[in-house]
Amino acid sequence: MDLPRAEVRDSAEFKEDMGEALKRFTTSSPDYADTDLIDVLRRRDYARLDELGHTYLDYTGGSLYAESQVQEHLDLLLHSVFGNPHSSNPTSSAATHLAERAREDTLRFFHADPREYAVIFTQNASGALKIVAESYPFGPGSRLLLTADNHNSVNGLREFAAAKGASVRYIPLAADMRLDGESLASELAAGAGSAPSLLAYPAQSNFSGVQHDLGWIAKAQEKGFDVLIDAAAFAPTNELRLDMVHPDFIDISFYKMFGYPTGVGCLLARYDALKKLVRPWYAGGTVAFASVSAFSGRGTAHRLFDAPFAFEDGTIDYLALPAVSIGLRHLGGVGVKTVHKRVMLLTGWLVQALTDLRHQNGGPVCEIYGPNNLEARGATLLLNVRDPEGRLVDYGAVQRAADAQNISVRSGCHCNPGAREAALHMDPLLLKESFTHRAQSSEEFLESVHDRLDGGVRVSLGIVSNFADVYRFVDFVRGFSM
Ligand SMILES: Cc1ncc(COP(=O)(O)O)c(C=O)c1O
Repeated sequence: MDLPRAEVRDSAEFKEDMGEALKRFTTSSPDYADTDLIDVLRRRDYARLDELGHTYLDYTGGSLYAESQVQEHLDLLLHSVFGNPHSSNPTSSAATHLAERAREDTLRFFHADPREYAVIFTQNASGALKIVAESYPFGPGSRLLLTADNHNSVNGLREFAAAKGASVRYIPLAADMRLDGESLASELAAGAGSAPSLLAYPAQSNFSGVQHDLGWIAKAQEKGFDVLIDAAAFAPTNELRLDMVHPDFIDISFYKMFGYPTGVGCLLARYDALKKLVRPWYAGGTVAFASVSAFSGRGTAHRLFDAPFAFEDGTIDYLALPAVSIGLRHLGGVGVKTVHKRVMLLTGWLVQALTDLRHQNGGPVCEIYGPNNLEARGATLLLNVRDPEGRLVDYGAVQRAADAQNISVRSGCHCNPGAREAALHMDPLLLKESFTHRAQSSEEFLESVHDRLDGGVRVSLGIVSNFADVYRFVDFVRGFSM
């Protein structure tokens, strides 16, 4: 198919059309006015976005930071002296104090009781998941239940589980990319195994935006499972209250919540659940004491600190941690509820506008994978463009056309192979065969199993999304109609 050139439209006519569309949107969604403070914030604190002509729609990739966050952090660094924490010297104490404050701020942000939950700082959400993966006491008799739309950083748990003799089961997705609830219910009804068993699922899929019921947490715990909630894609635009749900483990990446700093995430974990974890090694920072001479080649000659320190390998990113407190204050100041309200209203408009786009022959211009309404979904959409004959258009070409218009969307399988396979109806037997034939590259893997696309274009909204962002994207996709 010859790709239509979607024109860059910034003419007076375009602005007029957009103004009319905004009027219709605000009339039908009067609640949008409750989020006007975000427009003020965008002008004041994110002015670079519009000055540089960006349409940013990749918030699930990473959120954007406010100028004030960076300024406050810079001022702090320029007017203080910080040393490596955990010594009594003054510069070290100053760093320790701010690291501990970041821990308290994180607990407060998620309404977590400090007697119930620990905050373990990691490099990112994947680092948090790796702690659980390598330390969870899987063994013969353990069960690991995963939903098919887990991110690869959660799927990786299966490597440790299977190697230690646990049985690993995937809960499939229904046609609309929501969880097959019956299947999960029957797996839970079968009960936890004779050894520690874990259910791991995303609060919001980073692929389809589907939100899975947090009610499964208590149901699984009643059956003896520990529960890990991947909140990396959920926390930036949804309130997660750990006084209302009590998962055992939660992973977060802070840059996905407020853009800056990168390189810091955390594992929020219940102290009770942490007691079960067995660390496969120790490192500087994690041990109260250790000996070389007392080590006889077997057993241990070290004693770990209590949580959270037993899980923080080496030196934590102590200069970045004050920026976590600043970021949490920033997002808390805007209000996650306000962000949520705005992005959901915009998502509702976006889903409808994209669904309504038609080719001249009446065929749909794009296919959205996942719910076409706002029930149990977040502000992330996965789609592919179709030509008038209904064939999928290569998402790489769509991505390049978006790039050329300064529209930041992301394309591919988004580290979520299970959701990709469900969305595109990939044949599990062919996928298995490809591994049997030892495909080495992703191209080889997909060539042998599929002649169609292996992913799609993801659009995601966040802290300062506005109507112009979604309108521009719909206008861009309209450029593919023929
Ligand atoms: C749902 C989900 N889980 C986990 C991750 C991994 O996050 P990170 O790359 O920051 O470790 C991501 C990243 O996109 C994600 O979207």
